[in-house]
Amino acid sequence: MDMTISRIDPAFRNDVLRCFEQENLAIPARWLYDRQGSELFEQITDLPEYYPTRTETALLSQYSDQAAEMTGTGRAIVEFGSGSSTKTPHLLRAVQPAAYVPIDISGEFLAHSSAQLQTQFPDLPIYPLEADFMRKLTLPDEVAEMPKLGFFPGSTIGNMIARTSVDLLRFMRETLGTGSQLLIGFDRIKDADVLVAAYDDSAGVTAEFSLNLLHRINREMDGDIAVDQFRHVAIWNDLYARIEIYLEALSDARFSIDGNQFEMAKGQKIHIENSHKYGLRDARLMLRAGGWSPVREWSDDRDYFSLILAEAHPFKNAP
Ligand code: AVJ
Repeated sequence: MDMTISRIDPAFRNDVLRCFEQENLAIPARWLYDRQGSELFEQITDLPEYYPTRTETALLSQYSDQAAEMTGTGRAIVEFGSGSSTKTPHLLRAVQPAAYVPIDISGEFLAHSSAQLQTQFPDLPIYPLEADFMRKLTLPDEVAEMPKLGFFPGSTIGNMIARTSVDLLRFMRETLGTGSQLLIGFDRIKDADVLVAAYDDSAGVTAEFSLNLLHRINREMDGDIAVDQFRHVAIWNDLYARIEIYLEALSDARFSIDGNQFEMAKGQKIHIENSHKYGLRDARLMLRAGGWSPVREWSDDRDYFSLILAEAHPFKNAP
C-alpha cells in the first residue's frame, strides 16, 4: 500500500468526475503518467512488440550528425515532455548545444533525469522546466537570446487529435520563436497487426499501464473500482488512422469515486488513449498547418518511424 498522501491535481479530479457524467466515457491520456504509469511506460519501451522507441533511437544514433549539419552547434535544445531523456544524448553529442531545457509535467522525473544527464554532460548548462507544454511557455531567461532547437520525440504528438496537434505546434513556434528549428518524431501507418501488437503485448505490460489509471483513481480519489473487472482493449481505427485504447467493463460495475456513485454496464468502455499514425505526407502537412516548414526527413528501412526536421520561417505573403 502506498501510504503517502497525494495532493490530488484538481484538473485530474475534474477530468475523472466529468468522464462519468458524459455519454461517451473518456479520460485524457496525460493522466496515465503518474509515477507508476511512467515506470510502466518505460517497461513498454523495451517490449519486443513495441517498435517505436528502438526504431527512433536507432534513427537518432544514425542521423544525429546529419541533423547537426542542418542545425549547426550552439543552439538551446528545448525538449517537450522529456520524461527519462533517454534519446537525448545522441542529439546532444552531435548538436553540441549551448544549453538544454527539458520540459516535463512530472517534476520528480525531471529532477532525476536532469541530474543523470548532467553527469554525462558536465559542461552543459541544463535548465529543467516543470510545466504543461500544451500551453504557451516562458523559457528560462538564460536561453532567451539563443537560437532554439525544439525536440519532440516518441511520436507523443500522436496522442493528440489533429486540431490539438496543430494548436501545440503553433504554441511551440511561439515559444521557440521565428528562426527556430524543430526535430520531431512521427509513428507511421503500417500493417494493422503490427500496430495492434505494439499496443496489446503478449506480456500484458500495456494492459497493466492502462489499468493503472483505475488504480490511480482509487489511490488518489478514494475510489473503490474493482480493477480486475476491467480489461484493456486496443483497436485500429482505419478511418482516423489511429490506435484507440479502452478500458472495458467485464461485468456490470458500481463504484464510488470521491463520494460520488457511478455505474457502468457490462461491455461499456472508457476511452483512455489515441495513438495516431501518419502517412508519408500526413506529418509534413500537420507541421505546415502548425507554422513549421519540413526541411529534412529520416526513416528506417521499413518506414516504421520518421524523424522530421522543420523550421519556423518568417511568414511570407502567399497567394
Ligand atoms: C508515449 C504517446 C508515444 O502512443 O505509443 C504506448 C504511449 N500507450 N503504449 C504511444 C503508449 C501505450 C505512446 N506515446
